[in-house]
This record gives sequence, structure tokens and C-alpha cells, in this order.
Amino acid sequence: VDLQELSRLYRIAPLGDKPPQALATVFGNSTFMCFVHAGGVLAGAGRVLADGLDCAYLADVAVHPDHQGRGLGTAIIRQLVAFSREHKKIILYANPGTEDFYGKLGFLRMNTAMAIWQNPARAIESGLLSARL
Ligand SMILES: CC(C)(COP(=O)(O)OP(=O)(O)OC[C@H]1O[C@@H](n2cnc3c(N)ncnc32)[C@H](O)[C@@H]1OP(=O)(O)O)[C@@H](O)C(=O)NCCC(=O)NCCS
Repeated sequence: VDLQELSRLYRIAPLGDKPPQALATVFGNSTFMCFVHAGGVLAGAGRVLADGLDCAYLADVAVHPDHQGRGLGTAIIRQLVAFSREHKKIILYANPGTEDFYGKLGFLRMNTAMAIWQNPARAIESGLLSARL
């Protein structure tokens, strides 16, 4: 995949600023990935970090705005879940506002999910993290 194009996809989706070199690292270290092309253009992407038995973590799922609302995001998640099917748990954290999208795909809320963020202030501001226990 063209990493410049992938970086542009995340910027425009929007899913944040992900420089091509950073994408080379995280996709390079991922177990499974999915890319969708439409008319020669990158229309969607996603990846999975998986340990081969217990846990698979879905990340960086995004669809180009020109193609959102046509079932592509659903197809990407279904494919990543199918790749991960041997695992006891498949986890992710939803971008605030996208919880219903994942709920329709069978994901349930994790009551005790906890995280250490490199930059917690921004994650707290965006609603991803709670400042309290
Ligand atoms: C979230 C995203 C991946 C969904 O992809 P998509 O191709 O637009 O989704 P689909 O067309 O497969 O939609 C499937 C269903 O989810 C719903 N849905 C889509 N986006 C949603 C959102 N942001 N919030 C709530 N529901 C959503 C659709 O309405 C549709 O419902 P329906 O089946 O009842 O009609 C896409 O909108 C996107 O890339 N958003 C920006 C980046 C992002 O937030 N990624 C998620 C990272 S956690």
C-alpha cells in the first residue's frame, strides 16, 4: 500500500495525523490488515495486532469520506474479525461517537477497560479517557 495515500486517508477520514513512517512501523508490526481500493484510490483500511490465541486488537479502521455510509466500514470490520476468529477476545476502542457502529457489529462495552496514554490530556479532552478511576 502507498503509505502517503494511507496517511492522507487517515487525515481526511478523519482519524488523526499518522505520518507515513509511523504507519510503516505499526502496519509492519501488525498481524492482519485490510485495504480497500475503489477506482484505483485507497477507500478504506484497518489492521489487527494479534497474539495468535488469546487476544486480537483492532486498530486504525477508517473509510474515505467519499465512500462512507456504503457498508465499507462494516465489510472491513467483518474481514478483520474473520482474520481474528481463533482468538478468545477481539477488542478495540471506538472513536467517540462511533460506538453504535461497533455495537451493530456485535461488540459490547468493556466495563473494566483501562489504559496508559502517552498524552492523556488530549485523550481526556476528546472523551476517550476519563480523568477519574
Ligand atoms: C466509522 C467508519 C469506519 C464507518 O464506516 P462506513 O463505511 O461509513 O460505515 P457503514 O456504511 O459500514 O455503516 C454501517 C452502519 O453503521 C452506522 N454508522 C456509520 N458510521 C457511524 C458513526 N460514526 N456513528 C454511528 N453509527 C455509524 C451506519 O449508519 C450504518 O448503520 P445501518 O446499518 O443501520 O445503516 C467511518 O465513518 C470512518 O472512517 N469514520 C472516521 C474515522 C473513524 O472514526 N474510525 C473509527 C475508528 S474507532
